[in-house]
This record gives sequence, C-alpha cells and structure tokens, in this order.
Amino acid sequence: MSSAERVTLTAASCREIDNWIAKYPAEQRQSAVMAALRIAQEQNGGWLHQDLLQAVADYLDMAVIAVYEVATFYSMYELEPVGRHKISICTNISCLLCGSEEVVAHFEKSLGIKLGESTADGRFTLKEVECLGACVNAPMAQVGRDYYEKLTPETIDALLDQLRRDAS
Ligand code: FES
Repeated sequence: MSSAERVTLTAASCREIDNWIAKYPAEQRQSAVMAALRIAQEQNGGWLHQDLLQAVADYLDMAVIAVYEVATFYSMYELEPVGRHKISICTNISCLLCGSEEVVAHFEKSLGIKLGESTADGRFTLKEVECLGACVNAPMAQVGRDYYEKLTPETIDALLDQLRRDAS
C-alpha cells in the first residue's frame, strides 16, 4: 500500500459492524462505536490508523472527534502499532496488593523491554492497564481476548513460551 492510499474498513468489517448497528434503534447507530473500533483495530493488526478513526466516524455518522474521544479513553484501543502479542498487565489495587510489581518486573526482564515498549522483532508489547475486572484472581494480565490470572514467575514463563511458539 502506498503512503497516499487511505486505510478503509474492509467489506467484512462493515458487515460485522452492521451486525452491531442492528442491535440499536435506527437513529442510534453511533451506539456501535466501541464495537466498530474493536473491529477496525483487529482488521488493522491491533491498532487504529488515523484513517480508520475517520472511516468509523463516517460509517456511524459521527464527528471524528467523538470517535477519537472513545478511542483515547479506553485502554483496549491503540493509536500506534503494537506487537503481535499485546500483554496488558493490571497494576490496579487488587493486583498491586497481590504482586503486580513482581509480575511487571518478570515480564520486563524476560522480554527485555519496559512497560509501554515493544520488542524489536514486533512480537510483544507490554502495556500497563487499570482494573480488568478479574480482581478475585489477581495478579493478572490480558493477552488478546484471554485472561491469565494468579500469575507467578512460573506461569508467566509458561505463557511466554506458548506465545513465542505461536509467534514463530
Ligand atoms: Fe487487577 Fe482488578 S485490580 S483485575
């Protein structure tokens, strides 16, 4: 794709967004904005190109600034490229009390990067996030759509081994 070429929603993404729009009253299609952003992000390898924010705004008849506000408020959306595996580590109160500092340190040491960084090979990104609602099994992290709970150095090593195999 040339740099001048706009990134747009694919036909498959539009069909999926249409399914979400259909869940709301006809005049409330913008209610599908969070789902539309997720779909657009998945289409684009895990991050939202500026063009896709505009495309979602156009598709839902919204001002692009309103779409941007949603995309910047929630931690699951990315406005810059991320690694193939984005590891979102909760450091909120329950996870903090149960050892999230050690979890962060172990991920950082194992991958050779800090929170907010990606590995040079583009495989992994480490991200700090707020509570993901799995406090009862703290400390935890999310990778893709999966939660990994009651993390220990051993389970983190096993998780990274599995992800490295998936990414090879
Ligand atoms: Fe970590 Fe709730 S505080 S999941």
